[in-house]
Amino acid sequence: MSLVDPASSAHSGVAFGAGKVILFGEHAVVYGYPAIAGALPLGVQAHFERAERCQLLAPQGLNEKQLALLQQAFGKAAEVVGLPKVCVRLEARLPMGAGLGSSAAVSVACAKALAMAAFPGEEGGAWLERAAPMALCMERVFHGNPSGVDHSTSLRETLLWFCKGQAEKLSSPAPLKLLVAMAGKRSSTKSTVEKLRERQEKWPKHHARLFEEIGRCTEEARGAIEAGDLALLGELMNVNQGLLSALQLDSENLTRGVHRLRTAGALGAKLTGAGGDGGAIIGLFENPEAAEKVLRAEGIECFACQLAGPRS
Ligand code: PMV
Repeated sequence: MSLVDPASSAHSGVAFGAGKVILFGEHAVVYGYPAIAGALPLGVQAHFERAERCQLLAPQGLNEKQLALLQQAFGKAAEVVGLPKVCVRLEARLPMGAGLGSSAAVSVACAKALAMAAFPGEEGGAWLERAAPMALCMERVFHGNPSGVDHSTSLRETLLWFCKGQAEKLSSPAPLKLLVAMAGKRSSTKSTVEKLRERQEKWPKHHARLFEEIGRCTEEARGAIEAGDLALLGELMNVNQGLLSALQLDSENLTRGVHRLRTAGALGAKLTGAGGDGGAIIGLFENPEAAEKVLRAEGIECFACQLAGPRS
């Protein structure tokens, strides 16, 4: 989806923040190793229109703590562009808190809406540049010290190589198709990242070894994507899953789900995002639609998507 609905003027309109999946390198990316992430067609829409003052109407279903955090994050971003007189209403079409980048999608949708409202005369590219630091500022309120991979992928809406704040678009000669499934509830990214930090500080050498191996895996995966070698890519996803498991980032729910994706025909499968108690898992498929039907019939919430490559 483009930055703005063509029917919108910059005084009112709809801005989109895409959800994302991390294919390789989650958590290691926080420690300076590369990650590969792709944008989802699902995301968050920020409807905005002129108002008496700058305000955010939050979506339904948030608890008091989440609501306060969201208002705080929005307030900080809005201050960056001088509190434009606009009312922003969020509409989420993405599972929230599942590891699919919902907080980044919220941040990007709000940041784009604020940039468009504050600078109505500008073009799409300029809005994107203005939105990036605001989205990061919101992500910092949600996550403390995010690597930046989530909001960069959400903003760019493409398959990205991301390392130390730098993002690069990746292309694939083969269709890169996934089945994304939900494997139970999980705790917040912030707490999972903080717990890993505590273990890393206690056993730095052991963790450095695992992060380095994830980094190597991500680099090999880039080669496999660019060569269209899906079999190798799937194998590397399984290896990355094993390393995330060694970092204690999986759980019974996630392990069971990952194995179900593999028995359903995935070339490779792993958790995506922060992991922990539960959350989203991904499987790489040549044709995910058949597995999607089977898993849905079993009551598993899932959807198929394509991240890159030629579309039929
Ligand atoms: O919030 P999630 O589940 O989409 O995952 C964020 C990715 C991490 O690597 C775990 C954290 C980060 O800041 O990159």
